[in-house]
Amino acid sequence: MKKSFLMLAAFFLTGAASAQQTNPLLQHEAEITEIIKGMTLEEKVNMLHGKNMFSSAGIERLGIPDIEYADGPFGIREEMEPHSWKPLGWDTDRATFFPTGSALAATWCPGIAYEYGKGMAIEAKLRGKDMILGPAMNIQRLPTGGRTYEYLSEDPLLSGVLAVGYTKGSQDQNEAVCLKHYAVNSQENMRGFVNANISERALREIYLTPFEMAVKQANAMGVMAAYNKVWGKWCSENDMLQNRILRNEWGFKGIIISDWGGTHSTVGAAIGGLDVEMPGHDYMGQALADSVRSGAVPMEVIDSKVRNLLRVRFAIKPVPKDVANTKVTSQPETQAIAYKVASKSIVLLKNEGSLLPLGKKVKKIAVIGDNATRTMGLGGVGAGVKTLYEVTPLEGLQKALKGKAKINYARGYEPAPRARWGQKLPENAMAEYEKRMATLKKEAVKAAKGADIVLFIGGNNREVETEGSDRTTIQLPFQQEELLKAIAEVNPNIVAVMVAGAPVDLREVQKVSKGIVYSWFNGTEGGNALADVLTGKISPSGKLPFTFPMKLEDSPAYALGVYPQKEQGGGDVFVNLVNRDGFQERKADADYTEGILVGYRWYATKNVKPMYPFGYGLSYVPFKYTNLSAKVAENTIEVTFDLANEGSMVAEEVSQVYIGRPDSKVERPKYELKGFKRSSVKAGETKKVTISIPMENLRHWNEFQHAWNIEKGKAVIYVGGCSADFPLKAEVTL
Ligand code: BGC
Repeated sequence: MKKSFLMLAAFFLTGAASAQQTNPLLQHEAEITEIIKGMTLEEKVNMLHGKNMFSSAGIERLGIPDIEYADGPFGIREEMEPHSWKPLGWDTDRATFFPTGSALAATWCPGIAYEYGKGMAIEAKLRGKDMILGPAMNIQRLPTGGRTYEYLSEDPLLSGVLAVGYTKGSQDQNEAVCLKHYAVNSQENMRGFVNANISERALREIYLTPFEMAVKQANAMGVMAAYNKVWGKWCSENDMLQNRILRNEWGFKGIIISDWGGTHSTVGAAIGGLDVEMPGHDYMGQALADSVRSGAVPMEVIDSKVRNLLRVRFAIKPVPKDVANTKVTSQPETQAIAYKVASKSIVLLKNEGSLLPLGKKVKKIAVIGDNATRTMGLGGVGAGVKTLYEVTPLEGLQKALKGKAKINYARGYEPAPRARWGQKLPENAMAEYEKRMATLKKEAVKAAKGADIVLFIGGNNREVETEGSDRTTIQLPFQQEELLKAIAEVNPNIVAVMVAGAPVDLREVQKVSKGIVYSWFNGTEGGNALADVLTGKISPSGKLPFTFPMKLEDSPAYALGVYPQKEQGGGDVFVNLVNRDGFQERKADADYTEGILVGYRWYATKNVKPMYPFGYGLSYVPFKYTNLSAKVAENTIEVTFDLANEGSMVAEEVSQVYIGRPDSKVERPKYELKGFKRSSVKAGETKKVTISIPMENLRHWNEFQHAWNIEKGKAVIYVGGCSADFPLKAEVTL
């Protein structure tokens, strides 16, 4: 134990030293010191809060430009009025809608995440932005979590590897990222005041690790403090999270900005580590200057914040105002990236009788479902993308199948009417809805009758999955299950394509569908990517970034009865932004009782069978795993095996390595993801795949020492194409 622990410490130290030399944030320290010396208190404080809705001030006297921020995370948000959320209605701000976070994560590929970050950065630059408010990377703890579609994964390694890729891709284009939301913003209900009670170990191993990776491995320049509290303290004034862990331990040199309206005090936030209050100046404007004058906040604290801001400002070359916004944001180069991500994200969950890919004999296709024609760039609460274009599933299929098959489209169902905030639905709205639904169902059944195949394109939409609130159920909305049953009575050849960003309950879908495809909120090129997968132009290669529970009650926080919380009703943070009265009085606790047993860690350890396990995804070809060898070297475990494509087309496979520690002295999940790799294998080819696992990935947080340890002893290595079925197994000793 001692030796490997020392080795680990040495690794961290050398890692930190070289990161210091290459960190672009540290190239102007002397110059910054001089600038700060010449600044007045007012000039300094002027930088520490929002100037506009999406900018913070530079130093006008010295010609140092403002910092311009852009939502993020899955496309550059449209331009808004300086002090409101009202869009300006420009034409040039039409951007590429990139597949949302869970779609990106389904690619399981750091190289693709890199391109994604690069694409986002190219568009941000065209808009004159300095910092993208993304990647959004909280752990998907709840299947119902409102922002699951935006976040990456339930697993910290997968989230971290992708966040590192995204960050490098963006920052290599000289565009800063802002990792969000730091930390434990894993539910949307009550996010504006909920307090996360969480074990130190779960905090470190599960919730902080992705942030740590993006800071240490990619020098992320920005971090956004989350709305919620952790251990009783607002994230935006959390000394432990911001000063002690992020800055002192991880060596973060960039800026910490608050989430919008997520600042709650002046002295607390200033001392607790926040650099910029966004988007206003309730706490870090005049009140902050007064607090410095009174001695409550030392000038050194202000200076270090100004230094952080200037570091980012000097590292990121500003785009001159007359150059920004001269071209449309979305460009062919970035659209191609969106296509690439989408095409590698689609997950094939079921393919009974090899119904897919659509064969030459398929001449009559019934496409049924509201999501076949619905765009997903905008909708619900929060950041969306005003797209230049978005290819819907129906459009993609029509283009791909032109002259080859006849498509008959029926909508089948429509979203139920929803009352807007503070309003009531008209009395007969629901009765009329039911009437329309009956007609739509009849039309759909008619379209399905006699078709060679039914492509049912349903799932959720951006109103159902939204920032600001969690779902109350994972059941498919808008009576889709009944519709599917009715269709199944007239046509057994159903492929259900689910357009969603989070898990749904698939029990009924499973019963009536021979094929199930998960196709995400898949961006501008989503429809083309889907058509290319369904028609077999490419083999599906996405893998689930989260577990699909058999039923919601099986998932850890639900099984333990700690979510939804009983204390308080809903209430989004925006409610508090509009009316701050009573803000401090609203209280709720989120108990993270499952600890480190999040996602598949829970299902595997507790022997709960999921509907589809984490990491799952089929291909059009069978892959065979053989010849495993696992070697322990000084700082790594080298896992090598043969991967054979036994099919008749080129295909990609994401191989995964999980490690179990059966003799551990501490509580452990049965096994955890420790490495993975996407490989492209030609028909009939066998590839040797090597996955090199840094020893650091095997660390666990020792709650007595408050430090990372790597345990000696037996390690069982499981290799395969998902988290629940391992064709290969080996044992090594550490
Ligand atoms: C969200 C952030 C977003 C910010 C600015 C907040 O409500 O939580 O993710 O960046 O608004 O739009």
